[in-house]
Amino acid sequence: MAEYMNTFFFGIYPYIAILTMIVGSVLRYDQDPYSWKADSSQLLHRKGLRVGSNLFHVGILLLFAGHFVGLLTPHWAYEPFITAGQKQILAMTAGGIFGSMAFIGMTILIWRRTTQDRVRATTKFMDMAILLILFVQLVLGLLTIPQSAKHLDGSSMIALAEWAQHIVTFRGGAAEFITEEALVFKLHIVLGLTIFLIFPFTRLVHMVSAPYKYILRSGYQIVRKRG
Ligand code: HEM
Ligand code: HEM
Repeated sequence: MAEYMNTFFFGIYPYIAILTMIVGSVLRYDQDPYSWKADSSQLLHRKGLRVGSNLFHVGILLLFAGHFVGLLTPHWAYEPFITAGQKQILAMTAGGIFGSMAFIGMTILIWRRTTQDRVRATTKFMDMAILLILFVQLVLGLLTIPQSAKHLDGSSMIALAEWAQHIVTFRGGAAEFITEEALVFKLHIVLGLTIFLIFPFTRLVHMVSAPYKYILRSGYQIVRKRG
């Protein structure tokens, strides 16, 4: 049973999640294009948004880049420049700093979304759900750091990266790399894949469009009388 679960969650579930993300996003963009937005609440309540959202976004975008490069760069490609042990320490340090930024930012965003009436009134179920799921995922990610500290040779990191690389290149046997890993890594990966799965049903779709113009906008909405 344990072996079946391992194969399911780390060998099959990744494809279900990624496929749902791609097909679901294409369908949503096609069927309901005006729902494709970040759903800004700046107009309703500003306090805490600038600092909370900025800390969160900077932290999460750098974590995203770190995960992408860290998990998908093959061992042979970085070996001439940096040892696995050094890379593990780099991941823990950079991930720890960016993760802490995201943690502070998210705490402010969650406080704002749960205590400010105007924001709460326009918060949909999925807005709150995705914020909390991302928060749990972030905490699980931060909890992997002490676990990684037990394998400073980078052996755990190599196994996890092999898993990710086998998945994205459609090679068999990916799940076997995870079997012996600590529970916190497993939970972090399964919840991460679940975020991919529900992606099209949340406001997360805004990240594909990277609405950077929001950063420069004046903050006032111009309303003109008709004719
Ligand atoms: C690609 C770059 C990105 C840009 C330019 C961007 C921009 C924005 C903007 C403008 C908002 C609305 C803030 C407001 O209320 O005015 C927002 C909200 C949000 N973004 Fe992003 N985003 C990006 C990437 C991401 C990523 C990678 C994630 C998570 C994985 C994310 C998660 C969220 C969440 C959860 C909210 C809602 C926060 C709240 O509850 O108030 N964003 N984003
Ligand atoms: C499918 C999506 C994801 C996968 C497969 C994944 C996988 C991993 C793995 C394997 C590690 C351990 C790296 C190591 O030390 O060897 C890790 C660490 C971490 N993850 Fe994720 N992750 C995902 C999404 C996320 C998200 C969305 C967040 C933030 C909300 C996040 C935050 C962190 C943090 C803070 C760490 C610890 C520092 C680091 O090593 O970078 N992860 N993740």
